[in-house]
Amino acid sequence: MCGIVGYVGDQQALGVVVEGLRRLEYRGYDSAGVALCDAVRLHARKRSGKLANLDKVLDEQPLPGASIGIGHTRWATHGAPNDRNAHPHLDAAGRVAVVHNGIIENFAALRAELEQSGVEFASDTDTECVAHLLALELDRGLDLTAAMQSVCRRLEGAFTLVATAAADPSRVVGARRNSPLVVGLGDGENFLASDVAAFIAHTRQALELGQDQVVTITREGVRVTDFDGRPVEGTAYHVDWDLSAAEKGGYDWFMRKEIYEQPRAVADTLLGRFTREGTLQLDEMRLSDDELREVDKIIVLACGTSFYAGLVAKYAIEHWTRIPCEVELASEFRYRDPIVDHSTLVVAISQSGETMDTLQAIRHARQQRARVLSICNTNGSTMPRESDAVIYTHAGPEIGVASTKGFLTQIVACYLLALYLAQVRGTKFGDEITEIMDQIEAVPAALQKLLDGIGPVEELARELSTARSVLFLGRHAGYPVALEGALKLKELAYIHAEGFAAGELKHGPIALMEEGLPVFVVVPPQGRDQLHEKMVNNIQEIRARGARTIVLAEEGDEVVVPYADTLIRLPRVPTLLQPLVATVPLQVFACELATALGHDVDQPRNLAKSVTVE
Ligand code: F6R
Repeated sequence: MCGIVGYVGDQQALGVVVEGLRRLEYRGYDSAGVALCDAVRLHARKRSGKLANLDKVLDEQPLPGASIGIGHTRWATHGAPNDRNAHPHLDAAGRVAVVHNGIIENFAALRAELEQSGVEFASDTDTECVAHLLALELDRGLDLTAAMQSVCRRLEGAFTLVATAAADPSRVVGARRNSPLVVGLGDGENFLASDVAAFIAHTRQALELGQDQVVTITREGVRVTDFDGRPVEGTAYHVDWDLSAAEKGGYDWFMRKEIYEQPRAVADTLLGRFTREGTLQLDEMRLSDDELREVDKIIVLACGTSFYAGLVAKYAIEHWTRIPCEVELASEFRYRDPIVDHSTLVVAISQSGETMDTLQAIRHARQQRARVLSICNTNGSTMPRESDAVIYTHAGPEIGVASTKGFLTQIVACYLLALYLAQVRGTKFGDEITEIMDQIEAVPAALQKLLDGIGPVEELARELSTARSVLFLGRHAGYPVALEGALKLKELAYIHAEGFAAGELKHGPIALMEEGLPVFVVVPPQGRDQLHEKMVNNIQEIRARGARTIVLAEEGDEVVVPYADTLIRLPRVPTLLQPLVATVPLQVFACELATALGHDVDQPRNLAKSVTVE
């Protein structure tokens, strides 16, 4: 949700900033802009639409060389996504330029105050207030750092700000509250960005900033303070992936690359967790075993695909630990007076670690004294810092806007947590845990085999590219898979898609069945309760009404064959692990169908990867 870059150093800032924006474009693509600061003045260029539009403007109206620059790629909140609302925003005299991610909630009052004192606004954004306020502080004789501290004290809401001023061509100043900002530590150069991907080509040394902090970068160094100007320490860390992880590596889309990375991502998430002695080790677990024994309820909080990972996890958590587990949309949680106390374990699932709804939900849970554990893919992000414990998924950077490897590794991390709880609470014997871990550890190879034979799913997607509606049915742990399959198709192909619990079919959705309607059915493995049999009945019911059945069933399941118009074979895994394999064909289907329709798979319309506003 908006990507921000700032640079000070010996390289040409324009190249560094635009390259950084290219790596952050997944965060928003409503407009893009840059401002450079040379020894004389500020120079800005901006344009609505994708970064390619800005590239064109920069070709037509080149900027002078400069070693200080800031840039922005926007996901619009205040103000339409047009040229006038594109960032950077400058004050009237063009002395200070600012870029912003977030929403300044008291902007109306600030704007009214500024307008009363004669300031004329050039955009409809909340951000422009900051440019004018900074200019007023610079007029009072403050330097840019002190001006930023002073302005931040007046702002309400969520914001990452990065600014540069003509009067001070040696520094870039950033600030953060509730929105992400990391510092890249270079040699004779320093960087600010919403995400390390922006500067990974230059340095893998990073500095994590805390809440309500202002950071000043110069060629020589980095200084961090709170909003009152008191020095504080950032936390330095080494980024454990490199530039190649942030590039497409020969694939047409990041999403496709990330789908194919899933065997590796799952294996990396499992790496080092299970010792030879047969005990589970979760290194980032900062909750003691005694505290985990006190837990009497688990609430999983997440949004979107991560929420579906939570829905999958519930089956395993309750089955293995016997602890009641609720799964709730983070955006709903704190508005309903939830029953939470010190013995509640809140599990927040977030690929980015920055999703505002989830972040606010865990803050609410902590206020009620709940213990919070986050499952997160992004080192240095806000959620792990604000949690009592964290399990990192080691998926590597996920750049395609639609989550894929994030989802699978979140499920794996939830399973590790569930097994750990089962271990410390004694609800599973050691040999049972060993057996389940063996089954999970076999998943990467199963995924690889599945991907090696995925061609027919791609063909199916091309064949169905004119479909106006597609339905997905699942049962038990396959139900969230159906929801995820539908979400992927909606967000990438922009066609109507819905996921249903197969048992609900007769309670309404069956009315939708008509001749030729494609319906994916995720069939549970054979031999578990009566789930398989019931699902086969469901397939017959929809087929009898003319629907085209696309059946995902495990290898060796011959019962489904007569009822499948198209059969997609899944590797044989236990029921609770089936979501890890069954989701993959649905990801591939959505990716390929959207490609066939000519859509931008990595940057679907109206979306942004990291939703840092509520
Ligand atoms: C869908 C998708 C989103 C995210 C959701 C939560 O493909 O990617 O639904 O899953 O916005 O994001 P995180 O996991 O970063 O909190």
